[in-house]
Amino acid sequence: MTLTLHRTVAEFRQAAQAVRSAGKRLGLVPTMGALHEGHLSLVTEARSRAAEVALTIFVNPKQFGPNEDFARYPRTLERDLALCRDAGVSHVFAPDASEMYPKGERTRVQVSGLTAALCGPHRPDHFDGVTTIVSKLFAVAGECVAVFGRKDYQQLKVIERMTRDLLLPVEIVGLRTVRDADGLAKSSRNAYLTPEERQRALAIPRALTAAVTAFAAGERLISALHQLALAELGAGGLRLDYATLADADDLVPVAQDGISGDRLLFAVAGFIGKTRLIDNVVLGEDPAPIAS
Ligand code: PAJ
Repeated sequence: MTLTLHRTVAEFRQAAQAVRSAGKRLGLVPTMGALHEGHLSLVTEARSRAAEVALTIFVNPKQFGPNEDFARYPRTLERDLALCRDAGVSHVFAPDASEMYPKGERTRVQVSGLTAALCGPHRPDHFDGVTTIVSKLFAVAGECVAVFGRKDYQQLKVIERMTRDLLLPVEIVGLRTVRDADGLAKSSRNAYLTPEERQRALAIPRALTAAVTAFAAGERLISALHQLALAELGAGGLRLDYATLADADDLVPVAQDGISGDRLLFAVAGFIGKTRLIDNVVLGEDPAPIAS
């Protein structure tokens, strides 16, 4: 299969339309590039659901805060294109910012409620940036099946809601987190970690594993699940943004003195040095990040 690189909205829109005109379904994988096995698992899923897959690469300035890593975010287009070619991607859309944010632009897409907790308070404007760019990508791609990772669980829930609310002709699929053998979730930001920081980062999969193990053994007290996880996180010297147990659908945090039902989101975000990492499991659904 040949791969075509599109740099403009007009080109990519036309290519997506041509796929549908040929009677084929289009699969869409939105990314910010610096591709890794997590992204490639989304491509594999998209290929199983659609005849042609388009992957987008755009480091979206509007979803980064003023003190975040927009400038140093890894940009590895040539390598990404080679990986896409090997993975059977047909179209890569890698626009400049001026294509996605035309001069004079004034519009933001905002989802309320689901953005109130977890990463929301720590990254003001982040989700507005995500929903704005993803709605634009959907507007250009048109009818398709779009695949996202559960690694960014809150993002997935927000995009699902936005797609339903705006009546967009896109089917959303969420996929399980791909991890390294030691349990650390694959992330483009792992490239920032020194070997010593990477070791300390393992506190995150350890904390999630402690919660999964206790939950599987029948623990349902929120405070007990929380304490187990915090003990692991403290050992890694992580500067925590949050470690929160929340409803897996509406993302509302549960009270410390509460008792869990059969399914509960446990989401963690924090800094190792200057690098912000996030991870999560749905207790009662996901396997332990570190296999016993
Ligand atoms: P990015 O961080 O590049 O991630 C692109 C997609 O890959 C997202 O759906 C993310 O959840 C998924 N992903 C990342 N790491 C993963 C892992 N270890 N296992 C499985 N999937 C993983 O998320 C974004 O870009 C942006 O916010 C975007 C949606 C493209 C909008 O700009």
